Amino acid sequence: MNNEEVDRIRSVYARWEPTYDCSNAGYLRSLGERDDRLRGLLSRLPHNLTRCRVLDVGCGYGSLLNLFHEQGVPADGLFGIDLLLNRIQVARKRYPSFTLKEGNAEQIDFPDKRFDVVTVFTVFSSILDRGMAENVALSIARVLASGGTIIWYDMRYPNPWNRNVRPITKRRIRELFPSFELQLESLTLLPPLARHLGPATNCIYPLLVKVPVLRSHYLGLLRSAA
Ligand SMILES: C[S@@+](CC[C@H](N)C(=O)[O-])C[C@H]1O[C@@H](n2cnc3c(N)ncnc32)[C@H](O)[C@@H]1O
Repeated sequence: MNNEEVDRIRSVYARWEPTYDCSNAGYLRSLGERDDRLRGLLSRLPHNLTRCRVLDVGCGYGSLLNLFHEQGVPADGLFGIDLLLNRIQVARKRYPSFTLKEGNAEQIDFPDKRFDVVTVFTVFSSILDRGMAENVALSIARVLASGGTIIWYDMRYPNPWNRNVRPITKRRIRELFPSFELQLESLTLLPPLARHLGPATNCIYPLLVKVPVLRSHYLGLLRSAA
């Protein structure tokens, strides 16, 4: 466990969070795009969602788990873990029937092979310490059932305005999850661009996001190669 990195992440979010505008049109459009693609992915998963157990690592306020709930996963199959107590407290209020734990995903407090699906959305880009990232990846692989699926969403480009995040390239994903096969697609218009589209967002976002180099994130599946 890496306590310095834990403290760093907590202090970064304490400073950054109050300044982030979650009502920005470009931000909301990119979330909508991501969630539409995710629903498409879920409809093609080999797992029966009505009997699935899902763990969201770095679950924040729990909204991703709620998307799984809307897609058919029962509340008693939905689990989340996050380092930030304030986020877990809000998530528990919003979704009292999900199981939500405050904790460091370097040590996930669940038995081996417990989950059919583990989601990890913009978490590894928040972790600068390589040792912590490797420990989190090992924990995810440990709690994933044989034949289970990791669902990945994270940034593939560096953010020159934010030194507290790092890009996660395909090469780095392969280093973190060496025994998994990657099925990733790029999406999400570069946030600094998307956030400046203003009232033209709905017209311009879909045109710009067609240009592959302007897509900042990967979304997709990591399937156990075994
Ligand atoms: C950018 S936020 C994303 C939150 C959520 N996944 C989403 O997509 O809205 C990254 C989250 O990862 C969490 N996180 C980072 N490192 C973690 C760790 N080692 N264990 C648990 N959570 C962690 C942070 O506390 C934060 O809530």
